[in-house]
Parts: sequence; C-alpha cells; structure tokens
Amino acid sequence: MTLRPLMKKDEKRIAELAHDKSIYRFTRVPYPYNIEHAKKFIADSQKKMKKKEEYVFAIALNENDELIGIASLMRFNKMDNRAEVGYWLGKPYRSKGYVPEACKLIINFGFNKLKLNKIIIECAKENKASKKVIDKLGAKLEGVLRESSFVGGKYRDSLYHGILRKEWKPNKIEV
Ligand SMILES: CC(C)(COP(=O)(O)OP(=O)(O)OC[C@H]1O[C@@H](n2cnc3c(N)ncnc32)[C@H](O)[C@@H]1OP(=O)(O)O)[C@@H](O)C(=O)NCCC(=O)NCCS
Repeated sequence: MTLRPLMKKDEKRIAELAHDKSIYRFTRVPYPYNIEHAKKFIADSQKKMKKKEEYVFAIALNENDELIGIASLMRFNKMDNRAEVGYWLGKPYRSKGYVPEACKLIINFGFNKLKLNKIIIECAKENKASKKVIDKLGAKLEGVLRESSFVGGKYRDSLYHGILRKEWKPNKIEV
C-alpha cells in the first residue's frame, strides 16, 4: 500500500466503503454515508492539509492506486508537541496488515518529519481489531478513559495508548 493525499477521484470509493456500520460503530464517520459526505470530507481534509492542521491520507493499493481506507494524524497539541493517529479500512481489505503498515508510515512521519514527542492512539474498549493494530505498533496502554468518546451512538470507554519518540523502534515492528 501507499499513503497519498486525497483526490477528487476518491469521492465514489469513500462513499462506498464508508457506508458501513462497522466503521460508524467505532469512529466519527457518520452512517448512513453518501457521496455528499465524501465530497465534504475530501474538501475539509484538503483545507486542513494545506494549513498543516491535520494530515489525512488515502491508504491506496500499489497496483491501481485505488483507495481502500483512511489514515490520519490529527488533534495536534502544539504546546505539548503531540498528535493522534486515526484510521479506518474498507471491509474487503481487513486482516491483511494494511492499517498497521499505514500507521508505521504515519508515525515515522510524525516523529521524523514533524518532530513530535508523542503520538496517541485511542480505541474503544470493545474494538478488538483496533487494539490488535495498536499492540502491533508497540504503543503502551496508559489508561482507560471512562465513557470519554461518544461514537456509534453511545458513550464508550476509551483505551488511551501512547508512543514516545525516544521509544519508537520502527525496525523492530514487523508489519
Ligand atoms: C481496526 C481496523 C482499522 C484494522 O485494520 P486491519 O488492516 O484489518 O488490521 P490488521 O490487518 O492488523 O487485522 C486486525 C486483526 O484483528 C483481528 N480481529 C478483527 N476483528 C476481531 C474481533 N472482533 N476480535 C478479535 N480480533 C479481531 C483480525 O483477525 C486481525 O488479526 P491478526 O493480526 O492476528 O491477523 C479495521 O478493522 C477497521 O477499519 N475497523 C472499523 C473502523 C475502526 O474501528 N477504526 C479504528 C477506530 S479506533
């Protein structure tokens, strides 16, 4: 896979893949999801990228450049020099290691290029697949934030994980 900026041609793919309750359940992606949502998402993401407020990437297949999911570096806290990683992947592409690989690239970008000190990854306590991704990346569980996110129509406990620049060892991560 490759990470690349979002393009107009991604509208249809995003609308198709994001219209998925399994994504809605654990993210801020609305459901039902239509082409207008996708257009707005791309436009907003491009604006934020331009202002360097957020970095939103398409996870795209090498063979045909087709978008299969989204990975982003967001919620920057400039004062404390940290940001958060977020992601979703289209259902047909799951369990192939794409998101761990995408996260590794984004975390490298955050530490090496943006010189962040810390990267956060949160997931709902029930989100077993995301927890697996996070563990593969070697992020440390720092706490359970009780009912701290309203996602998928309910308040959910959130597992708060962190990676510090000084402990990030991408070569030791097999993804
Ligand atoms: C979470 C998500 C991004 C994972 O991406 P991915 O590229 O499929 O990640 P991986 O390839 O590492 O596969 C996930 C692992 O979780 C496992 N898994 C999936 N569902 C599971 C479940 N309900 N219980 C236990 N394990 C589960 C898979 O079998 C796989 O295991 P493996 O590493 O032993 O092969 C993807 O499932 C997704 O988009 N989910 C919906 C949106 C979402 O939850 N986003 C994250 C919000 S924090």
